[in-house]
Amino acid sequence: MKEIYLPIKAEVVEVLDMTPDTKLFKVKPERPVHYQPGQFFMLSLWGKGEVPISITSACGFHEYVELCIRRVGYITSAIHEVKPPCDIGLRGPFGNTFLAENAKNKDIIFVAGGLGIAPLRPLITRVMNEKKRSRRIALLYGSRNPGEILFKDDIEAWQEKGLQLFLGVRKGLQFILSAGKKDNCLLSGSGPAAESSRIPKISFKNAYAFVCGPPVMISPTMITLSTMGMDENNIYTSLEAHMKCGVGKCGHCYVDGVHLCTDGPIFSYAEIRKRRLQIV
Ligand SMILES: Cc1cc2nc3c(=O)[nH]c(=O)nc-3n(C[C@H](O)[C@H](O)[C@H](O)COP(=O)(O)OP(=O)(O)OC[C@H]3O[C@@H](n4cnc5c(N)ncnc54)[C@H](O)[C@@H]3O)c2cc1C
Ligand code: FES
Repeated sequence: MKEIYLPIKAEVVEVLDMTPDTKLFKVKPERPVHYQPGQFFMLSLWGKGEVPISITSACGFHEYVELCIRRVGYITSAIHEVKPPCDIGLRGPFGNTFLAENAKNKDIIFVAGGLGIAPLRPLITRVMNEKKRSRRIALLYGSRNPGEILFKDDIEAWQEKGLQLFLGVRKGLQFILSAGKKDNCLLSGSGPAAESSRIPKISFKNAYAFVCGPPVMISPTMITLSTMGMDENNIYTSLEAHMKCGVGKCGHCYVDGVHLCTDGPIFSYAEIRKRRLQIV
C-alpha cells in the first residue's frame, strides 16, 4: 500500500529571499517525484508541524522541486529559519490539477494576485513552452508594490515568448475588464504600471482563465470574467483551506460536501457555483 501518511525525506539545497516575507526553497526529495500544475505537497518540519504548499517549479518528473513560501504563522516562520543543507519531509504530491489540455489552442488569461503566481508558474511555463501557438496569452498580475513582484526572470522569459503582461503594483488595484466589439473584450489595469497600449483582444467566449490569489480577489475576478462572456466551465481557481492529512481522511478541509484536498484544490467557477462553495 502506498504510504500516504509517511513523508519522504527531502534536502533543502538552496534558499532564495524573494521579498522580506517570501522565500524560494529548492529541495531534493530522496527519490524523483512526478507532479502536475496545481498540485501540492504536505511539507513537514521535524518538531514543528506540516503545511500544504503548492509546487511552483516546472511540472513533470524531477529530481528537484521548488516551493515558494510566505511567512504567515508558526510553521511557515520555522521553515523560513531553515539553512541549507537541512532535511524536511514531503508527502504527496496531492490534489487535482489545472486541466490545461482543455485549453489547448484557446486564448488564455492568467490572473494572479501576490503569491498566487506560485501555483500558476508551472502552468504558465508549460503553456509558454508549447512549440506552435497561435492563441493569445495574457497575464494580469497584481502586487502590493513593485518589490513584491515574484518570479521577474520567468515573467521576462514568458514575455519574450509572446505573453502579454498587465502588471498592477499598488494596494487595492483593480483590473478593469470592459466590453469591446462583439465578444472581444479589452483588459486594462487601473494601476500605474498598467499600459493600455498593450491591451490584448481576447475572445472571451472561447477563452480559458486560471485565477490564483487571495480569496478577496478570486470571487470578483471570476464573476467579472463570467459577466464578460467567459464560460463558467472554463474559469478555474485554486481554493485554500486549513489542511491536516491532505488525503481526504481527517475532514479539516471539508466544505459544503467536498474535501478541498482531494476533490480540489482546483475548481471551475461552474463547480463552485453548483456546489455553493464558500471562497473564504
Ligand atoms: C492547497 C494549498 C496550497 C498552498 N500553497 C502555498 C504556497 O505555495 N506557499 C505558501 O506560502 N502558502 C501556501 N499555502 C498556505 C499555507 O499552507 C499556509 O500559509 C500555512 O499552512 C500556514 O501555516 P502556519 O503554521 O505558518 O500559520 P498558522 O500559525 O497556522 O496561521 C497563521 C495565519 O494564517 C492563516 N492560515 C493558516 N493556514 C491557512 C490556509 N491554508 N489558508 C488560509 N489561511 C490560512 C491562519 O488562519 C492564521 O490567520 C497553501 C495552502 C493550501 C491549502
Ligand atoms: S486535509 Fe484531511 S480531509 Fe482534507
